[in-house]
This record gives sequence, C-alpha cells and structure tokens, in this order.
Amino acid sequence: MKRENVIVLDFGGQYNQLIARRVRECSVYCEIYSYKTEIEKLKAMNPKGIILTGGPNSCYEPDSPTYTKELFELGVPVLGICYGSQLMMHLLGGEVARAEVREYGKTEVLIDSRESLLFQGISPSTICWMSHFDYIKEPAPGFTVTAHTADCPVAAAENAARKLYAVQFHPEVLHTAEGKEMLANFVYGVCGCAGDWKMDSFVESAIKSLREKVGSGKVLCALSGGVDSSVAAVMLSKAIGNQLTCVFVDHGLLRKNEGDEVEAVFGKDGKYELNFIRVNAQERFYSKLAGVTEPEKKRKIIGEEFIRVFEEEAKKVGAVDFLVQGTIYPDVVESGLGGESTVIKSHHNVGGLPDYVDFKEIIEPLRELFKDEVRKAGLELGLPEYLVNRQPFPGPGLGIRIIGEVTAEKVKMVQDADYIYREEIAKAGLDKQLGQYFAALTNMRSVGVMGDERTYDYAVALRAVNTIDFMTAESAQIPWEVLQKVTSRIVNEVSHVNRVVYDLTGKPPGTIEFE
Ligand code: XMP
Repeated sequence: MKRENVIVLDFGGQYNQLIARRVRECSVYCEIYSYKTEIEKLKAMNPKGIILTGGPNSCYEPDSPTYTKELFELGVPVLGICYGSQLMMHLLGGEVARAEVREYGKTEVLIDSRESLLFQGISPSTICWMSHFDYIKEPAPGFTVTAHTADCPVAAAENAARKLYAVQFHPEVLHTAEGKEMLANFVYGVCGCAGDWKMDSFVESAIKSLREKVGSGKVLCALSGGVDSSVAAVMLSKAIGNQLTCVFVDHGLLRKNEGDEVEAVFGKDGKYELNFIRVNAQERFYSKLAGVTEPEKKRKIIGEEFIRVFEEEAKKVGAVDFLVQGTIYPDVVESGLGGESTVIKSHHNVGGLPDYVDFKEIIEPLRELFKDEVRKAGLELGLPEYLVNRQPFPGPGLGIRIIGEVTAEKVKMVQDADYIYREEIAKAGLDKQLGQYFAALTNMRSVGVMGDERTYDYAVALRAVNTIDFMTAESAQIPWEVLQKVTSRIVNEVSHVNRVVYDLTGKPPGTIEFE
C-alpha cells in the first residue's frame, strides 16, 4: 500500500519540525524538505498536501527564498504559514508589505468565513500565535479573506476552488488555541487524507523491511540503554533474532541501577531474542578519569574510551554486515539533510563512529521517527515504560554531573542523591510535567552539623527545567515541600553530603546540564 504523505517545504522558520509533528499527530506521514528541492522531486512523491513554512525573510526582497509558481498549479492542496502565506500571495499577484506595527504573540483572530474548510468547528474569535513584520496588504486575485485581526486585515485567505490556503499565524504552536484542529481540517478536510499512519503498522512494516534487508547477515548494535538505541535494538531483535549482537558498555557513570535494568530487559533473562554482551568497564573509566577536572577533557576521555571498549568487543564478535545507528528524524533534519534550519548539535555526539568495526553498511531503523514516535514504537514493541519514558541522559553520564574529579565514591553519592530526587518527584506526580531534572554533585565542601558532630562534606545541586526544544530552558518551580523532603532525605541518607542547593539558572546563560 502506498502511504499518504504531506510535505513540509521549509523556508527556514523555527517551528518547522513542529508542523511535521502536528501533521503526524493526525496519523498522516509527513516529511520536511528544503525550499531548494526541485518541483519534479516533489511531484514524484505524489503528496496529498504541501505546507509552506514560516521563515525570517521578506518575500519581496530579491534574494529571499522562493519557489516556482508551478507549485500552485499541481492541483495538490497547499497551506502557507506566515512567510509561506506571504510568499503564496506574492507569487500569485497579491501584495505583501512592511507593517507599521509588528504583530507578535497571542492575538485574537476573527474568522470571517464560516464556510472555510480550514475553520470548520473553530470559534468565531480564536487566539492565535503571530510573529511577523510583513503583512498581506492585498490578497492575490481569486482569493477571499477568511480571517482578520485588529492590526492585520488578512490573517487568513483562501482560494478554495484551487485548494490554496494561507494563514498569517502559526497553527503549529500550542499558543494557537485551536491550531491542531485547523491543521487537522487541512489534512483531512482539504487534502482528503485517511490518517492511516499508525505506529503499529509502522512497526510491523519496519520489521518486515529490516528482515528483507538483513537477510541472513549479522548485525552489531551499541546499546546505551537510552530510548533510541533500545527501540532500535528491539526492532532488530524482532526482525532477525540472534543474528543481532548488542554490546552494552557499562562505564560506571550510569544512574543508580540502570546497568542492571538494561540487562534485565535485554540479557538472557529478558524476553527478546538476541546476543547481549555487557561489558563492565567501570574501573577502566574511573582510572582514565583519575585526576581530571576539566569538563571538556572528561567528555573526550569518556567518549574515546567508550569507542575503544566497543571496538575491542566488536573485534571479538568479528566481521558483521551491518552496524546499527539510533539516528532519529530530528537528527536528519538538523544535520541539514532534511529541511532548511540547521542546528549545530555536534557537541552532543559523544565519540562518533568507531574506527575499527568491520561492517559493510549502517542501518538506521528510526530515521523516520520523531522522539515521541520512537517512544510509541518502544511501547508497541513491549519495552517497559520506565525505559521508554526515560529522560534525556548525556552520553558521558554522571561523569559530567560530578564537578571536579570523578571517583567511585562520588559516583555513588550522586547516584543515590539523584535516585531520591527522582523518587520524590514521581511521588509528587511531577515527573510528566518537567522537561528534565536530576541531581549533580558540586565540588564544594562546607561545614555542617550532624547529631553533635561537626561535618565537612559535599553539597548536592538539584536541577529541574522546563523546555520545549532543549535549546533554551527555564528553571521549574518545584513546590517547596517537595524540595524540603528531597533535601532532608539526601542529607540523611547519602553519606558525605551535608547540604543541598536548588539551581535557578535558566538556559541561557546556564546549560541544562550542571557540568
Ligand atoms: P545542555 O547541557 O547543552 O543540554 O543545555 C541540552 C540537552 O542535551 C543533553 N546533553 C547530551 N546528550 N550527549 C547526549 O546524548 C551529550 O554529550 C549531552 N550533553 C548534554 C542534556 O541532558 C540536555 O537534555
């Protein structure tokens, strides 16, 4: 069966991945392509609809991103968002100009057309997110205005007969109260999508095509215990059973019990068929890290050592046909292969590819999925929820959440403190609301009193942030009682910790990690 596809044509705006995610939430497969993609290529994909994104330029400037007018003659429905809406008007003979006032933020939009397919079921006055300097002064011939705001005469316009729709606001962001419904109206009502992109059928067909691709070959996977590599491993295990070997390097910098949890799922007592190799390399990492205090240096050492350990194991396994990579769709887009908005994220790729692993080809079973879809696939594949809903965890692990020198004793301290923190956050029902939260061990010791004894011990820093994209973040407001409970448990239960502080710094100027 040919799968339905909606294409997002990327003009460099900041919410472009969000558009694709929202479309996929409607159970319609959606991919992002740069505006530089040739129309022949788009046509060949036979899309059910095309969405033009926002972007930072003015469409009437000569060097601004543009597209051939032919796009609007394909008979394929097109929705232009923000810059995309202006470009549509500009190319089709309307007028776009610089506005006197910049419209920015939550704005009341008044719907002028009750018939518009885009606005079926939408309130006559609805809050939308605006962010634009330019505005549509005059819609293109054949278009009717379907919504306006106090400052913006054309907040939406359409040529229903040609299935062309333009909205000045951003339906993809959550601040647009009924944005999801509008996008659903576009993909179902205008494009006529059936919405049959479902995780169970994706998983099933991915397993089938992995089985065909691998044949009787051997596959090697570096399993970190994180969501992506775990889901990739299970998918392959379902496809090819013990033609798959997973190497799990325990570098001794994992969260409390994590190594055993990974082994319980993937090891011989787990329910999946595969060869599982756990390498207990704790001592090796601790001795490499002895005396090292500089965070970048620690990252390098951990990354390099990880590769060396993995290579040694790979040598024992011998030549394989495929090496698994847990690349997910945002990595594809952000590395410039998909859309237009390049985000530099290389500092997160610990280590890179091993120099010595004898393999012919890389397989990336999650290449088409967003993170939340990877989680859904994980649940579909029967992975336990605690593993699937894991928070982001840096490759160098607790090695960077210990300020100063890393020692086995300090690892134990931060593991215990972090465990208590996570436990209390979950008990308070806050775990699903927070973006990321963890404990770090500062390198500061100070005087305290315990019983009648003077102590001179370490301070633990608690961190919790809310974030949409992990590029910026703000510190989360944890209820005082929860912080007090965590503090009292940590100082009572974790030896050599006599003080707990809460980090209120946002990103920027801080980072999410406390390293
Ligand atoms: P920062 O500290 O840069 O972190 O604000 C942003 C997000 O990235 C995670 N992070 C990493 N993830 N390898 C990873 O896989 C890394 O080396 C790494 N460093 C930071 C961090 O936990 C946060 O979610």
